[in-house]
Amino acid sequence: MNNNIKRSWAEPYKMKMVELLKMTTPAHRKKALAEAGYNTFLLRSEDVYIDLLTDSGTSAMSDQQWAGMMTGDEAYAGSRNYYHLEEVVRTIYGYKYLIPTHQGRGAENILSKILIKKGDIIPGNMYFTTTRLHQELAGGKFEDIIIDEAHDSESEFPFKGNVDLNKLEKLINKYGAKKIPYVSIATSVNMAGGQPISMKNLKELRALTKKHGIRIIHDMTRVAENAYFIQQREKGYEHKSIKQIVLEINSYTDGATMSAKKDALVNIGGFLAVNEWDVFEEARNMVVVYEGLHTYGGLAGRDMEAMAIGIGESVNDDHIKARVGQVIYLGERMIDYGVPIVKPIGGHGIFVDAKKFLPHIPQDNFPAQTLASEIYLDSGVRTMERGIVSAGRKANGENYYPKLELVRFTIPRRVYTQAHMDVIAESAGRVYEKRNKVKGLKMVYEPKYLRFFQAKFEKLS
Ligand code: F0G
Repeated sequence: MNNNIKRSWAEPYKMKMVELLKMTTPAHRKKALAEAGYNTFLLRSEDVYIDLLTDSGTSAMSDQQWAGMMTGDEAYAGSRNYYHLEEVVRTIYGYKYLIPTHQGRGAENILSKILIKKGDIIPGNMYFTTTRLHQELAGGKFEDIIIDEAHDSESEFPFKGNVDLNKLEKLINKYGAKKIPYVSIATSVNMAGGQPISMKNLKELRALTKKHGIRIIHDMTRVAENAYFIQQREKGYEHKSIKQIVLEINSYTDGATMSAKKDALVNIGGFLAVNEWDVFEEARNMVVVYEGLHTYGGLAGRDMEAMAIGIGESVNDDHIKARVGQVIYLGERMIDYGVPIVKPIGGHGIFVDAKKFLPHIPQDNFPAQTLASEIYLDSGVRTMERGIVSAGRKANGENYYPKLELVRFTIPRRVYTQAHMDVIAESAGRVYEKRNKVKGLKMVYEPKYLRFFQAKFEKLS
């Protein structure tokens, strides 16, 4: 008997329905990309072979979720599925009061309007596009308090989502706790590359904020993925289940906004969850204005049912191991080809360092936007810019110049196979080989808000 044979893991599911993909030719892609103004958001999905634009709303639902859809109670008020979701949010996530919303930003809008006054400061562990914009639209100012390692794509620090407590203390001293309605904490920090926050850091943050009477609001969009990294990397958590870790994370926070389109394995949906009755009462009032009645918040009964079931599946240990395992597999293949990626590999995708990949292209010529275009041209794989275009402009009109200029290869959950991962890594490797020939872009159309979604570019000659 040979005991040296490696034991692989595999996806804890099998397929019972498939969606056929369309293969495209280089000439077709060249035309499609030019028509899309070199913005992968403006491509038609039909022109895409493997779609890594986002892990948001792109996951495959289980047979149980689809079965749940059939039990949708499409009542205007008091749908059975709302009560099921409420129970799941209480038992699995540990938050008391639930306001469903059509997706994450619906919850961000309501929360920001309730808690933020003009001139307030909202410290957070790196910005997220929609989250910061809602904070700003409500009159607040976002301040980044993530540790410096998060801005360094090469730092192998295991918890690059951590808060630098000194940075937070400085803000409290400068502005006073009254000006800080809450600290905005994301698990699996998206813009840093899906990097986790440690339980130790969260506990310390809880102690500090408690002392000053400041809330912690949790962007729990990818909390289960963060829990996986705690289980794998943090002492004392190696024998705890993902479910236990998720509940503990949430216990150090006062409320949450959720885009259920990620972790929770649904194509649409989200919620706001809070522990304070007063905040809940106001949110319940406001949701009627922006989303729908407080027992559906812009969702159908069937959507809430699929979400309730998806949340349960998302905290399953085998699920999350395979989910993050696939991402790590892709990252390791890219490293084999010499492609510079953010390390450690994060939970929801591979973030390629475009500044290192295309060092000859200045940030004003959009290296990450350029690289996303080149990957699409090479293979029909669609990725997303997460750099200067995504960062947008400050209130005074100046560009933000983020340190990280990244292209995100985001992996939808339960959708693609290991063979797809090989094809993706090979494409990144191929473009890397011919990187010296790649030229940058200029922006020819810029929308006012969240410009990355609809901006248009032209190739520099
Ligand atoms: N918070 C985080 C950390 C997110 O990643 C997203 C969405 C949101 C909030 C907003 O949620 O889209 O449901 O309104 N991220 C997507 C992405 C769009 O591609 O990363 P939403």
